Amino acid sequence: MSNQIASREQWSGAWGFILAAAGSAIGLGNIWKFPYIVGENGGGAFVLVYLLCIAVIGAPVMICEFALGRHTQRDPVGAFKALAPKTSVLAHLVGLAVLLAGAFLLLFRCWGWGALLIGLGLLIFRHGWVLVGAMGVVAGFTILAFYSVVAGWTLGYVWKAAAGQLDFASVEAAKAHFVQFTFNPYWAVGCHFVFVMLCVLIVYKGIKSGIERWSKILMPVLLLIMLALIIRSLTLPGAMDGVRFYLTPDFSKINAGSVLTALGHAFFSLSLGMGAMITYGSYLDRKENLFSSTLSVVGLDTLIALMAGLAIFPAVFAQGFQPDAGPGLVFLVLPTVFHQIPLGAFWAFLFFLLLLIAALTSGISLLEVVTAYFVDERGWKRHRAAVVFGGAIFLLGALCAVSVTDISDWTRLEKLHAVLLKVFGSTKASFFDTLDNLSSNWLLPLGGLFISLFTGWIWGTKHALDEIRHGSSNFGDVHLISLLAGLKDDPSHNAGVHVVTLASLWGIFIRFISPVAVLIAFLHTIGWLKLT
Ligand code: TRP
Repeated sequence: MSNQIASREQWSGAWGFILAAAGSAIGLGNIWKFPYIVGENGGGAFVLVYLLCIAVIGAPVMICEFALGRHTQRDPVGAFKALAPKTSVLAHLVGLAVLLAGAFLLLFRCWGWGALLIGLGLLIFRHGWVLVGAMGVVAGFTILAFYSVVAGWTLGYVWKAAAGQLDFASVEAAKAHFVQFTFNPYWAVGCHFVFVMLCVLIVYKGIKSGIERWSKILMPVLLLIMLALIIRSLTLPGAMDGVRFYLTPDFSKINAGSVLTALGHAFFSLSLGMGAMITYGSYLDRKENLFSSTLSVVGLDTLIALMAGLAIFPAVFAQGFQPDAGPGLVFLVLPTVFHQIPLGAFWAFLFFLLLLIAALTSGISLLEVVTAYFVDERGWKRHRAAVVFGGAIFLLGALCAVSVTDISDWTRLEKLHAVLLKVFGSTKASFFDTLDNLSSNWLLPLGGLFISLFTGWIWGTKHALDEIRHGSSNFGDVHLISLLAGLKDDPSHNAGVHVVTLASLWGIFIRFISPVAVLIAFLHTIGWLKLT
């Protein structure tokens, strides 16, 4: 094993790592989803709530993931294997709760769910914390399957924009085209295939000459395109209405639901909760500063999300469209907006290229989690793991792609759907929505919950802090109170008295605040807790 660790690849330095991690974080979530949820949830007010979630929960959890990865130098499963105790009361309690829930469901003749929970309970008893890492690998697989379908659409749109085919006079025409495009299995599956292949090629090349190299090329390009789009958008006549809509706080629209939306999105956007950041952290040298790297990654991710809104809303308003088109905003409204501005095809091309780049650097991080598991734990060659699992993800995604051909209809997967219906009761959602729902609403929040609990209570904030301090020795010693009071040079600042330090605040967040917040959000999304 020591041999294996000695030959393990590493990032060439802090910037390679930061850009790769930012590349993972910055994705469809920032550009496609963030603007429209801001639009739906009260503009600037929602942005403030989101920033709070990022600062209070997102960043502390991200530094945990980095520390877990760097300390163990392993994939998520290996990381938990290395640190988890043989028996853990907490894990047994969770296992017991799941078993009881399963038995309860069986009593009520919910055979499918009951059996699933019993199986899960037994797995928890057998594997304990290691299961959290395994859940991450599974999530990487399922997220990439549907993520790459949407990414495939953007790829198709880049192509079509270049060919001058994205020219629609009305949103209806754009919609007709979009439906025709996504319903056409050759296009939908073909583009999905090309996207997965790009991810495989990059991951195949390894950490330094694959992921890091491409992140260093693609992330600056992404930033430049974004800047160009913002300038174009803000200089359209009437653009300021869009800025006002986007950023004017409307606190009446903020309720518990929007706070939880913000929290869930913070997790998704920062790529937390499934070990992507554990995996990226595991290729980092111990001399690098985890604290400042985390700040950079979080800052870049937030910056790009905010910028995306500034690129989109002013243009939408200036051309007289409604901003509340939801998920369809990007594929239906924007092509029509571009139609109305000079050189529209060029701007459409740039926009979809931006979306494609963002999706690509996120896609590779998802594939890397799966690949790292097979390389570290199963002793596979990286090349083989990347190709085999890229292929498997392509197949699962292809099912997804054809399942949306009739938005919420399973006609093409009739048999599979019939089986699922029998086992799990009614499922109206398409296969695509099912995978999306499974990963975004279940696997990620649960992963985030257990990663905080594990760091806070099992591995221990003390050990995590020791890891974080390698390369950022001052992390724990910033005495916030004296700093805020301007008393940094006062003798009391370094005296042994108990003052609030950044490290102590972080510990409290990890042990109490983030598990509770994530649990509430989780119970809310699965409908067990009704908050208005
Ligand atoms: N963060 C990416 C986005 O905003 C998606 C993503 C990539 C992701 N890797 C992840 C989400 C890991 C959760 C976990 O689009």
